[in-house]
Amino acid sequence: MHSFSIEKSGFVYDGEPIRLLSGAMHYFRTVPAYWKDRLLKLKACGLNTVETYIPWNLHEPKEGEFHFEGIADAAAFVELAGSLGLHVIVRPSPYICSEWEFGGLPAWLLANPYIQLRCSHPAFLAKVDAYYDELIPRLAPLLCTNGGPIIAVQVENEYGSYGNDAKYLAHLKDGLIKRGIDVPLFTSDGPTDALLQGGSVPGVLSTVNFGSDAVSAFAKLRKYQPDGPLMCMEFWNGWFDHWGEPHHTRGALDAAGVLDDMLKAGASVNFYMFHGGTNFGYYNGANCQEPDRYDPTITSYDYDAMLNEAGEPTDKYFAARDVIARYMPLGELELPPAIAKQAYGRVELAEQAVLFEQLNAISAPTQSVTPLPMERLGQQHGFILYSTRISGPRPAEQLYLHDVRDRALIFLDGVYQGVIERAPVPQSVTITVPEGGSKLDILVENMGRINYGPYLKDHKGITEGVRLGFQYLFDWTIRPLPLEELSHLTFAGGDARVAAGPKFYRGKLQVEGSPADTFLDMQGWTKGVVFLNGFNLGRYWNKGPQRTLYVPAPLLREGDNELVIFELHGTDQSAVYFTDSSILDQAPS
Ligand code: GLA
Repeated sequence: MHSFSIEKSGFVYDGEPIRLLSGAMHYFRTVPAYWKDRLLKLKACGLNTVETYIPWNLHEPKEGEFHFEGIADAAAFVELAGSLGLHVIVRPSPYICSEWEFGGLPAWLLANPYIQLRCSHPAFLAKVDAYYDELIPRLAPLLCTNGGPIIAVQVENEYGSYGNDAKYLAHLKDGLIKRGIDVPLFTSDGPTDALLQGGSVPGVLSTVNFGSDAVSAFAKLRKYQPDGPLMCMEFWNGWFDHWGEPHHTRGALDAAGVLDDMLKAGASVNFYMFHGGTNFGYYNGANCQEPDRYDPTITSYDYDAMLNEAGEPTDKYFAARDVIARYMPLGELELPPAIAKQAYGRVELAEQAVLFEQLNAISAPTQSVTPLPMERLGQQHGFILYSTRISGPRPAEQLYLHDVRDRALIFLDGVYQGVIERAPVPQSVTITVPEGGSKLDILVENMGRINYGPYLKDHKGITEGVRLGFQYLFDWTIRPLPLEELSHLTFAGGDARVAAGPKFYRGKLQVEGSPADTFLDMQGWTKGVVFLNGFNLGRYWNKGPQRTLYVPAPLLREGDNELVIFELHGTDQSAVYFTDSSILDQAPS
């Protein structure tokens, strides 16, 4: 049994004052076989605490179906950190932001068209309560008061940046306490009046999040919390990237300088991120600050953090350690052995399967008067195909989608007509229907639900309708294509460069001996998703800045490894290359 408390003088652990030097690392962004490596590096940097979010949508992807195994084994991660002598801070949602799909909220919440998110709307609270009934009993035995490593738990996440429903925050706080959380709770918000007013909870420690100007941020916090520990719960030492924007970096010495200011002020800190990791699968989020902008986050969550995406210490790691060493004795730096990397080279993609010829093998159709969004069909992620017939002849007219979320490929009688993207609006494609009519197919990609800001309620697919000129089109066949199970595809040999997408391409990577970390270079490919031994590595897009996908060794096996690429547009390549270094800063096109 241990004790952790918040006193006027600061944090106290087992009766001794303690400064929290914490680093964020999300178990769900790093393969479990590498958790220990990353945590040992965190400890070796001089940190005493690891912080992680817990994303609801990973743990309850379908209502009432809970997953806590493998990369979703939050308890195993917490226990491992404890066994290495680290304290743990958990931020258990329901909302986590974090550039994570829908800020961690499960997409199935949106099946209820009337639900209100992140407030005390009874329908929302009922779902949160059911989830907490599953989650919190798994965390309770890991609290320091029960001998475990968890010392503190967050209520919501930067709630002041979204709303001001004090009843909702009180419900979450009470829900944690009544399910056995007896360690200190805290909130975290941006250092402004509105955000601290909206996000703070009476009797709960407020902390602040920022990337620079520690002195004024803490001064603002002090206005609302005259004593008690000062803590920066998210010190943004790097930043994330959107597709089509330049890669973000931040100088190591610049970040180290702000760290120094915080330590000088006697504050505690949580580096966001210590190790970012990867948005595997379809789990990237998106930003949307104005209705007419939509910026999906890339697959890599490298974040220009202290460890890079592949877990290697960066300049920032060493610069931060130097600063910490000025405040406490650290001793010699002892890092775990470096993880081998290998350039496996060329993999021929000798087999292909055309999406439109495989529909019956990988999807089931639904008939509907109007197009329906994914969530109404129980679909969370991936692609969705809407098909209908249009009578002809019709001279050239504009086809509009209301609204498309997020990017649609338009086909008329199987022939590609163009792309309609969600933003900026309005966008249209011109189509001409011949005598006898045409079949219209609209393949929509969900590129990640918005994770921050006022437009959080982000249904995917086509939300309202499809219009040709002024005429709405009715009578649709809809096929959800989450691409979760690809074993039913029938591939045939052929030249990968022949015929445009959407197509699946298959090849084999041969690994001799124990697998090493590697990076899949997607140069020459346009846009799609990659599956390695059935594991969804994430999205690629030639818009940049990300060109390579990180492949951690534990996803490979000795011998044959199956690579399947779902390419939407087409490629001038007949192969892909595995290299030994990442390219995350390709100039956006
Ligand atoms: C906020 C959120 C985090 C993350 C960062 C930006 O502080 O609380 O989850 O989204 O912004 O990376």
